[in-house]
Amino acid sequence: MRLKRTHKCGELNKSHSGQSVVVSGWVNNWRDHGGLFFIDLRDRYGKVQIVFSPEDENLYQVAKKLRTEYVVAVAGKVSPRPAEALNKELATGEIEVLAEEIEILNPSKTTPFEIKDYIDVSEDVRLKYRYLDLRRPRLQQTMLLRHQIAQATREFFNGEGFVEIETPILTKSTPEGARDFLVPSRLQGGKFYALPQSPQTYKQILMVAGFDRYYQIVKCFRDEDLRKDRQPEFTQIDVEMSFVDEEDVLGTMEKFMKQLFQKVLGIELVTPFPRMTYQEAMDRFGSDKPDTRFGLELNEIGDIFKSTDFKVFKNVLAENGYIGALVVPEAAGYSRKQIDDLTAWTRSVGGSGLAHLKFANGALEGGISKFLSENESRELIGRLQLSGEALILVVADPRRELAQTILGFLRNKLAETLQLIDAGKHQLHWTVDFPLLEYSEEEKRYVARHHPFTSPKLEDMHLLDSAPEQVRARAYDLIYNGNEISGGSIRIHRRDLQEQVFRSLKIGAEEAEAKFGFLLEALEFGAPPHGGIAFGFDRLVMLLAGTNSIRDVITFPKTASAVGLMEQTPSRVDEKQLRELYINVIKE
Ligand code: AMO
Repeated sequence: MRLKRTHKCGELNKSHSGQSVVVSGWVNNWRDHGGLFFIDLRDRYGKVQIVFSPEDENLYQVAKKLRTEYVVAVAGKVSPRPAEALNKELATGEIEVLAEEIEILNPSKTTPFEIKDYIDVSEDVRLKYRYLDLRRPRLQQTMLLRHQIAQATREFFNGEGFVEIETPILTKSTPEGARDFLVPSRLQGGKFYALPQSPQTYKQILMVAGFDRYYQIVKCFRDEDLRKDRQPEFTQIDVEMSFVDEEDVLGTMEKFMKQLFQKVLGIELVTPFPRMTYQEAMDRFGSDKPDTRFGLELNEIGDIFKSTDFKVFKNVLAENGYIGALVVPEAAGYSRKQIDDLTAWTRSVGGSGLAHLKFANGALEGGISKFLSENESRELIGRLQLSGEALILVVADPRRELAQTILGFLRNKLAETLQLIDAGKHQLHWTVDFPLLEYSEEEKRYVARHHPFTSPKLEDMHLLDSAPEQVRARAYDLIYNGNEISGGSIRIHRRDLQEQVFRSLKIGAEEAEAKFGFLLEALEFGAPPHGGIAFGFDRLVMLLAGTNSIRDVITFPKTASAVGLMEQTPSRVDEKQLRELYINVIKE
């Protein structure tokens, strides 16, 4: 490289006029104006126009061969543009660089897509050529935003006296509800490490070790089905604190969010954030992470139909089930087809069906209205406070949570279609008092809703054996505009209580010893009361960047089938490598 960069493309302006500079970057575009040859040279700081004049024949001939994405260094003089050539769209639009020398550092093949923001190309192609994708201004900005958020995070936690401590990546399985990624051991043939689903046990051990305020920006790995807000490999802001209760953790995190939103978005959040119990969130919104930017709340209406003859309701109520309704104002004009589509969609997300009726001219009509007695109709109109025109959607199911969840999905879907969401709102709230356990039909036992180290509420302990589903956890989730951005809990810090919870989870003494013996033992050596939380870092960046795909904020993300398209992962390995690891691959 002959020419050494003196300035960045994007930083040049009128104050540099007359200066000799060297700029380096990529040819964003070129224009041959007969007499003069122009290029826009791009680096991550911006673009600047370079002019080649035929007066220097050699230079001119080299320049004319430049094509997009060639990487070059240009020496020249900064010159104010003539009035008619000013470009207000460009930060450097008042000047141009009159080229005196050029060095082609590397040519480029024609790229599979243009390096600009709005391109019509499949995500697969973008991911295969991620290095080109990452050259686009939008992704450059997103990666810089991610960097900023990471810096602001470190600044906050350092300022609050937290210590950043690393924990192992080759570790032992920690149950966070997903499958582990396993790593075979060569030195201990037949044994496996697990990649951490989170540093949960390590951070608790660090509390036992006396590091009373820990944080880490850390990679976690979960082999689970992917969605728009999930990746197999993702990053957490992981936090743990000693000698604290819920108020301390929530208060510190509110301070963190307040500072972050202020710094990154310039938005002043009001603290403390509202809190909603899990029960209230399910009853009002049909979700433990409700989007509270709009109303459209659920209404429980089962009690109105105590003595109904309508078979569907009667059967559900006989099984102690749930009947709930959503009132969609102004939607009485929904066509048969629109309602059929909603019903089909409800089935696709696990519901058994969707009933409807309409309110117009002061009365209920259509759908299931013919099955309602006069009394029931009157009560329903009063309960739902119907006026004007409305469509009423009803879900009835013996499984209360499922029915509420279906209504919750419907609520979100309708809000989107009816454009009820104010995108300018930033609603943060805590969901608290989660049930400690939930019954897994698959495993035929109770499993921990958060993780098995979460402390039950001590006042609910007497229910642990008799009514385990009623025991509430000292757990909390932070919800931002309907997204779970973080979750945590106050932990169990005594061995006897931990063993008792393991028993409720049907984790036998032997299994507990084999899986978590080290933690149980540590709890016996003066473990302090402690609790913590972890933020989904990618999810947070995604939301602050205003995008709806987590892949947009991860430099090298995996596809929905967990494939790395650029480097082609996962891939096969040599027989020799397998033999060293004592692994025999079963061929399908
Ligand atoms: P939890 O499992 O709730 O808690 O995870 C914390 C946060 O991590 C994010 N998250 C994910 N982000 C992207 N892709 C994924 N596959 C993914 N899975 C989770 C979510 C979630 O809120 N050890 C506990 C925390 C604690 O108790 O302190 C834990 O990992 O935003």
